[in-house]
Amino acid sequence: MLIETAAKTAEPDFGVTNYCPSDAELPAFRDMQFEDINELHLDHPGANDLEYRERRDYIASLAKNFRETGDITDVEYNESEQDIWRHVATRLDELHQKYASPFYVKAKEDLGITTQRIPQLSELNNRLKETTGFRLAPIEGLVETRGFLSWLSYRVMLSTQYIRHHSRPEYTPEPDIVHESIGHIPMFTNPAFADYSQFVGHGARKANDEQLEALGRLYWFTVEFGLVKDGSETKAYGAGLLSSFGELEHAFSDQVDRRPFDLERVINTDYNYSDMQPILYVIPSYAELKEVTRKYIESF
Ligand SMILES: [Fe+2]
Repeated sequence: MLIETAAKTAEPDFGVTNYCPSDAELPAFRDMQFEDINELHLDHPGANDLEYRERRDYIASLAKNFRETGDITDVEYNESEQDIWRHVATRLDELHQKYASPFYVKAKEDLGITTQRIPQLSELNNRLKETTGFRLAPIEGLVETRGFLSWLSYRVMLSTQYIRHHSRPEYTPEPDIVHESIGHIPMFTNPAFADYSQFVGHGARKANDEQLEALGRLYWFTVEFGLVKDGSETKAYGAGLLSSFGELEHAFSDQVDRRPFDLERVINTDYNYSDMQPILYVIPSYAELKEVTRKYIESF
C-alpha cells in the first residue's frame, strides 16, 4: 500500500533491466525517507486502545533497529495476536482455494505460511532471497509513493510487522503482517512478477510527477488489486484482494467491471482506496505484464 506525496526530481538515466543487487550495492536503509509514519489515524479501530497503540508502536520501533543494524528482529507475537492471525488466515485460506491464482496458492504453501502461526519476516526473507533475490525490509507503516516504489528497483519490499486490532479482524486501514505476508510476499517468488515489480521500482526512480501518479495507478491495479487469466477462469493475485475477505468476494461479484488489462487505460483509471473497487483489470500472464511495463518505463 502507499500514500500520495510531493515528488522529488527524477534520477539520471539508467537501464531498465533486471538484476539482483549485492548487499554492498543497496542504498543504506538508514536513508529511508518517510512522513507521519508513527501516527495512527483516528479512524483506525485501535486508535483509542492505549495498550494496542503501545504494542503497535513497540513492534514498529523494531524497524528502526533494522535500519541501524540491517538485521530483521523477530517479533514474539502474543496469544491474542496469534488468535487474530488464526482467525483471519483460516477464513482467507478458504477463499484462496476458490479465488486465488494457482501460482499464489502454491507459493504460500512453499513459503510455509500456515493458518496456525504468524510467520516471521526473517524466515520469509531468507526464502525469498533463495527464489527470486527479493528481500524484505521492516518499516513502521505507510511510506510516500516514490520512496516505497523506488525500493522495488533494488528488489526490496518494505514490510510492516504489527497486526491489526482485534475488534475488527476483517479490516485494517493500514498495512499489517496479514496484508504483507498473506497478500504480498508469496507473489514475489514468481520470477516474472518479481521482475515486473523491479521495473515499477525503476520507473519510480526515473518518473516525473505525472509519471509517478500513473505508476501509482499501475501498482494499485496490479500489485494491490490485480486479476489474472487462468485458462478460461479469472483468479486474484493482488495483495489488497488476497488479504481481505470482503474485497476478494466482491471482486468476483457482478458489481465489478473486470476489464482486460490495457496499460494505457490502467494508468488513466482513478481509484478510491477507501471504497470497494468497482473496476479491476485482468492480465493475460505475469510475463506479459512484465514486458509491456518494460516498454512503458523505457519511454520515461
Ligand atoms: Fe499493499
